[in-house]
Amino acid sequence: MRDLFDRITENKGPLGKWADQAEGYFVFPKLEGPISNRMHFRGKEVITWSVNDYLGLANHPEVRKVDAEAATAYGAAYPMGARMMSGHTSLHEQLQEELAAFVNKEAAYLLNFGYQGILSTIDTLVSKNDVIVYDVDAHACIIDGVRLHLGKRFTYKHNDIESLEKNLQRATKQAEQSGGGILVISEGVFGMRGEQGKLKEIAALKKKYNFRFLVDDAHGFGTLGATGAGAGEEQGVQDEIDVYFATFAKSMASTGAFIAGDKEIIDYLKYNMRSQMFAKSLQMQLVVGALKRLEMLRTQPELKAKLWENVNALQKGLKDNGFDIGKTQSCVTPVYLKGSIPEAMALVQDLRENFGIFCSIVVYPVIPKGLILLRLIPTSSHTMEDIEITLDAFAQIRSKLEQGVYQMAAKTVGSTN
Ligand SMILES: Cc1ncc(COP(=O)(O)O)c(C=O)c1O
Repeated sequence: MRDLFDRITENKGPLGKWADQAEGYFVFPKLEGPISNRMHFRGKEVITWSVNDYLGLANHPEVRKVDAEAATAYGAAYPMGARMMSGHTSLHEQLQEELAAFVNKEAAYLLNFGYQGILSTIDTLVSKNDVIVYDVDAHACIIDGVRLHLGKRFTYKHNDIESLEKNLQRATKQAEQSGGGILVISEGVFGMRGEQGKLKEIAALKKKYNFRFLVDDAHGFGTLGATGAGAGEEQGVQDEIDVYFATFAKSMASTGAFIAGDKEIIDYLKYNMRSQMFAKSLQMQLVVGALKRLEMLRTQPELKAKLWENVNALQKGLKDNGFDIGKTQSCVTPVYLKGSIPEAMALVQDLRENFGIFCSIVVYPVIPKGLILLRLIPTSSHTMEDIEITLDAFAQIRSKLEQGVYQMAAKTVGSTN
């Protein structure tokens, strides 16, 4: 018989196999110093385009003050236990009420983490007779949530309403046979490439098909919509979203998440969601910190205005310079270039070492072979100078890429550690 760990010794996984060459640089890089538009990477200052601190709250002095005061008042432990047993407080309730009001829903429930929270939400919403229909490009947490489902599931082509409709027809047949219902899942904003989910078109299908709609709006919350309530508000269909989800890990610059919807549904989730029933309650420092952040989202619209000023300047600058930024409809700014993986690595190394720019890089198999995706996350703390430096650097790296400079440099990448 094989030892359980033989498989691990033989194959470290699709990313793990690159660890010797990539760790500390391309994966698990250490960005140091206060979270801001400029941080330090390997001792040097870089313009940071890879942190989802959209509204610049991570290091906002008012936020830091409240975080520190809450840590002093409550420590890291309080409250102990799961919400249902001993981890419930008035401040948890207050935050839920304020979140529900902010996203225009009857009720909300706090989740400790977005990832396990949405996974558990999906698990709780469906029984084995139900059918899930979801976008094929869904975030890993949605895919993992669907993996827990014991019944049928269908994917539709990314943001393709015709494909969704075909799958809704299949799902309807299936649900009629099994005696279940249908859950459709989309993201509000697809975080890799920045397109908004077609929430309006999906919601319109409710007239023809009987389904409930769950939206993961991790990147939309705080950044989209007139009041920052997200992609549903932006597209005028917040009421059609049956279960709205957002994390605190992006605009709120913290940890935690929530779901919101009709009170009856949220109450059901509250009493049945395993990830919250059997896990310690969100700690007070995070609850108090989230109340402060939410107040700032409500009362300081200039933060979102500044964010969009930067997003628009960056995206316009890239487009004017002939860069392909795909179909983004959000702050997430992808830049597509053509090149091999070794070229991509050499290019990113050049960007970081010589131009002082730190952004995320995505290559095959996440995107098609031969493409390089550089992903920029503008925030309200970036400056026009950051944007100008970045546009200039991108023009230079593109011309070096086209001249084959990175093909030659590729041989030396990997010796950076
Ligand atoms: C679309 C999406 N959903 C869910 C999550 C998970 O949220 P959390 O980081 O709070 O676990 C993320 C990443 O943060 C995300 O991008």
